[in-house]
Order: sequence, then C-alpha cells, then structure tokens
Amino acid sequence: MKYFIGNWKMFGSPKSINILKKINLFYTKDKNRKKYRIIFTPPYTLLQNYSNYFKNKKIFIGSQNCYQKDKFSSNTGAISPYMIKSVGAKYTLVGHSDNRIEGDTDLMLKKKVNYAIKNNLRVVFCIGENKTEKKNKKTFQVLKRQLTNVLEKKFYNNIIVAYEPVWSIGTGEIPSSQNLKETTIYIKKILKNIFRSNTPSVLYGGSVDGLSVQSFKEVKEIDGFLVGGASKSSKKFIDIIKNYYR
Ligand code: PGA
Repeated sequence: MKYFIGNWKMFGSPKSINILKKINLFYTKDKNRKKYRIIFTPPYTLLQNYSNYFKNKKIFIGSQNCYQKDKFSSNTGAISPYMIKSVGAKYTLVGHSDNRIEGDTDLMLKKKVNYAIKNNLRVVFCIGENKTEKKNKKTFQVLKRQLTNVLEKKFYNNIIVAYEPVWSIGTGEIPSSQNLKETTIYIKKILKNIFRSNTPSVLYGGSVDGLSVQSFKEVKEIDGFLVGGASKSSKKFIDIIKNYYR
C-alpha cells in the first residue's frame, strides 16, 4: 500500500473542502486506486467538518499535530489526541520540522506518539536532517537519534514514518534518487532494529510535485509521499498520483 498525504499547514477554510471533493472524485474513478490511500491533514478548525463529510468516502482525515497529553487538561490553546479522535479524525502527524523548530523535543514527541496511539490515531512520524546537519555529514546520526529516541516496538501497526529533509521543505531542492535510496534503506534498517519483522512504511516529503515525483518514483523503497505546497491544489495533487503511476 502506498500513501499520498496532503499537509495543508496553515491553509484552509470550510469551503476549501471543494479541493478534497475533487480529489475524492478522481480517486473513485482511478484504475490504480486499490494500490494507494489518500490522507489529508487540514488545520484543527476543519477536522470535524471534513471528518464528517469524508466518513464513508475515500479520503482519510488527520491532524497536523497533537498535544503531549491524553484527554483534557488546563493547557490554553492545546488540542489532545482524545479531542482529535473524538471529532472523527483517524491520523495525526507528529514531529513535523515546523514543530520541532518551535521546540518539540524527542521526549515531547514520544509522549505525543504514545497518547495518539492510545487514542486509536495512526501516527505519521516525521523525521529529517537540516541543512547544517547535512553539510556536516550528520544525516544518518540525526535520523537514528530521531527514530530510536521516540519509536518503540509496541507502536507497530500504528506508525508510518515520513522522511522529510528540512532543507527540501518548500524550497524546490530535492535529494538525488541515489541519495534518497541510500537514506531510505538506512531508515528501514534502523526501523528493522526497532520493530523486527513489522517495519512501518517510509514516505518521502519535501518539494514533492508532479515533476519531482518522476525522479522519486525510481526509488522503490519509498512507500509514498507527504506533500505540502502541492496539496493545496486538487490538480497539482492529482498530477502527483497520475505521474507516479504513469
Ligand atoms: P512541501 O512541504 O511539499 O511544500 O515541501 C512538505 C511538508 O512540509 O510536509
């Protein structure tokens, strides 16, 4: 199973659901649809509305983050995994670099993953090295730390890993197929140590669009994509899927 995930970040109003309706229509007619799943992570404000609408349809809805506590507490502005699940969402991103930059530590992320899974959300766990780490040849070391400090065998079945090099997010700069292949194989090796035989899917994220996907698809180890910018347009998002299976 491949995954195509659209992460809207701080984008979207109630009427933006029309973008997803078009993508859903495409999916229902696509001859390749059995091979992949579409997930969208709109902002918190739209989770309930969109989850209700897509309840018996083909697009799965998730949140972009969650708070590191279980249910209810006195944290102003925070949204817990329980609250996300209670409005019908099925997934959550955890560890996106936007949130790591704002202060999410491995310890916080571990709590988020734990509480999300406890509340029956599937977690898309994001990892990735920044530009300096890449320049200093620290990529593997960083990825290993991000994975082993947070993931545990007991999470098996509820985790998808998204490798998103920070220097590639929103920049148009992409890793070469060879480079991406080596990194993905390394990530899968670390995951095998953690999860043994039940290794999670590994997605790629960072400047994925209809064009770049043509080079990423050469990397057979990649199980799908986490798409930011190009997920705000139904045409651009559909182009990614079309070009992937072309
Ligand atoms: P991008 O973002 O596709 O705009 O590079 C990816 C992401 O941040 O998940």
